[in-house]
Amino acid sequence: MTLSGKRQDLLSTLRSRTGHWVSGEELSGELGISRAAISKHISAIKGLGYAISSAPGKGYLLTEAPDLLLAEEILFGLGTSVMGKNGIVHHHLTDSTNTRARELARDGAPEGTLVVAESQSAGRGRKGRSWLARPGEGLLFSLVLRPDMDPSRAALITLMTAVSVAEALIRETGIDARIKWPNDILVGGRKLAGILTEMSMELDAVDYVITGLGLNVNTPTEAFSPDIRDIATSVMAESSAPFSRVALLQAILSSFETHYHTLATQGPESILTRWKELSDIVGRRVRVSMMREEIEGRVTDIDADGVLLVTTDAGEALRILSGDVTY
Ligand code: BTN
Repeated sequence: MTLSGKRQDLLSTLRSRTGHWVSGEELSGELGISRAAISKHISAIKGLGYAISSAPGKGYLLTEAPDLLLAEEILFGLGTSVMGKNGIVHHHLTDSTNTRARELARDGAPEGTLVVAESQSAGRGRKGRSWLARPGEGLLFSLVLRPDMDPSRAALITLMTAVSVAEALIRETGIDARIKWPNDILVGGRKLAGILTEMSMELDAVDYVITGLGLNVNTPTEAFSPDIRDIATSVMAESSAPFSRVALLQAILSSFETHYHTLATQGPESILTRWKELSDIVGRRVRVSMMREEIEGRVTDIDADGVLLVTTDAGEALRILSGDVTY
């Protein structure tokens, strides 16, 4: 359930006066509705998990907002104009936000539509892997995009998302986030986040792209199973303090919108430059596991389509579109 119209306005008014009582009379005057209607809307807002005290002669006091990725929370202070502004769908539990976003996109959802979940029963990663996260501890979301680009350049969306996420993490949390080609965000060699980009084409043009992010935010180290404890981490584990998931999501969406606009208007150059700074893969010796073979060589560059260029030990120049890289 999301709030609409007057309810959203009422919540915004209470939020802007957090810590202060606001009388029913004042609210009724400001919103242009009866005091009985105010009381009804307050019950609905409480139903979402907000704690609101009420006292005769004093009015209403917002004391606590739920730690949920509700549209009401995300929109409050969101500085974007498209990303998250054209519809937010919140799920307490869904199979996969990418799947939900794909369905919405197929039904015509506009660019910037955001699907968020507190938990997923079938979170998907690349190559058929799964993405596991305990309820309420991470950021699990997908964005509907409708880029005017050649499908062969879709890899740039993943690179651009990685740059946006790494930059937002560095800015908001101070942790030294790095990008691992093509879709991982690491800290100190441990994975903090993964990106799953899925594209639908019509004829030779992109119909829509779904970019999904799984980011471990307030996951305690013990929550990672022993077999992945050495390779997975969270914002909380890295910074020793819990973090606001809403604030991180807002920062990621802002950064994303800026880079997405740059990609559309100026092309990929500045994003690729930033990607190279945040990744440190160029020049390294790597082993790349692909579907049918494994190669070793040195990364010479990443090209304008976001493809990894590797020269093998035998001197062969390869364009790697997809694979698992170790270095
Ligand atoms: C990977 O590391 O291979 C990518 C993981 C992507 C996981 C996110 S969680 C939100 C969105 N919904 C999904 O089913 N997958 C992505």
